Amino acid sequence: MRISLQQANHLLQKGKIVAVPTETVYGLAASLNHPHAIDQIFLRKGRPSNNPLIVHLANSNHLNMYAHSLPADTEKLIAAFWPGPLTLVLQANRSLIPENVRAGLPTAAFRTPSHPLIQQLLESSGPLVMPSANLSGKPSATHWEHVEADFGKEFPVLDGGACQHGLESTILHHSQDNWQVIRVGTVTPEELLPVLGYLPQVVAPNEKSVPICPGQLYRHYAPKAQLHLCSSAVLCRGVVLGFPERVYPHATRMIPLGTLSNPSSVAEKLYAILRQLDEENISEASIDMELPSNGLWVTIAERLSRAARC
Ligand code: TXA
Ligand code: MG
Repeated sequence: MRISLQQANHLLQKGKIVAVPTETVYGLAASLNHPHAIDQIFLRKGRPSNNPLIVHLANSNHLNMYAHSLPADTEKLIAAFWPGPLTLVLQANRSLIPENVRAGLPTAAFRTPSHPLIQQLLESSGPLVMPSANLSGKPSATHWEHVEADFGKEFPVLDGGACQHGLESTILHHSQDNWQVIRVGTVTPEELLPVLGYLPQVVAPNEKSVPICPGQLYRHYAPKAQLHLCSSAVLCRGVVLGFPERVYPHATRMIPLGTLSNPSSVAEKLYAILRQLDEENISEASIDMELPSNGLWVTIAERLSRAARC
């Protein structure tokens, strides 16, 4: 059910959860001041309670109230990327960030989103805690219709149109004097290089040790269809998620992911295309994974790989 900005604010103040647009993906929001509503987020999504949530702030003005000891270059990162799709994991002020948000960790993740509607909402609502507005494991929602498909027609959603980027924020944490990427996302390491003066290392999730970014361990972004990752276009068959500039010998049907010359356009539509497979009851599909290995393509390849994980 589509609601106005005023209704969204009213529901949040009453301790309810609502779906809201951001420039990356839609979020499932609760007020930071309503721990019970935050519990509801975990329940409605079917999200494991050991997977912490991002705190969304209207701006960075009070960041040093919510987080302790900001590491080197925090201000540079904020000046370059906020408002926008960059999330920073910082030592949390535990008296202001409830335990359930942090999943018991001493840290919390923070970002200031840039979508004009969420910016306006945050100005009146105060900090909002939100994961992506999808059922746990499913592709994130990039249109209000996706939220409705996962949570039902009665679920309140603020319609902000199609999300500009279509992939989640990049998450950084600080370790041993350097920032590291713990979730690849919309902001690429190449874009971080001129700000930090070094290319931040991308830390792959390690299933044997305690994960730095708990959410990275789960199968995610997945439609019901079984997905086959093909290292070359010639290996694709059946329904193929591919590119119009390529020829697919065994393809009975090619669903274009976008064009190889424009990764942003691929990112923007990626989750809608994965959801389309479910809408059409497609049970199996091949994905052309012969992708460039730089910039946003790294994030696109990571999301597709995790969608295909069993
Ligand atoms: O673009 C985005 O980031 C979207 C929009 C709605 O802002 N949000 C989003 O939230 O993707 P979610 O919950 O789907 O993913 C958040 C990720 C999870 O993988 C979680 O494990 C990680 O952030 N995370 C949250 N707090 C953390 C912390 N203190 N330390 C490490 N990872 C953390
Ligand atoms: Mg998510």
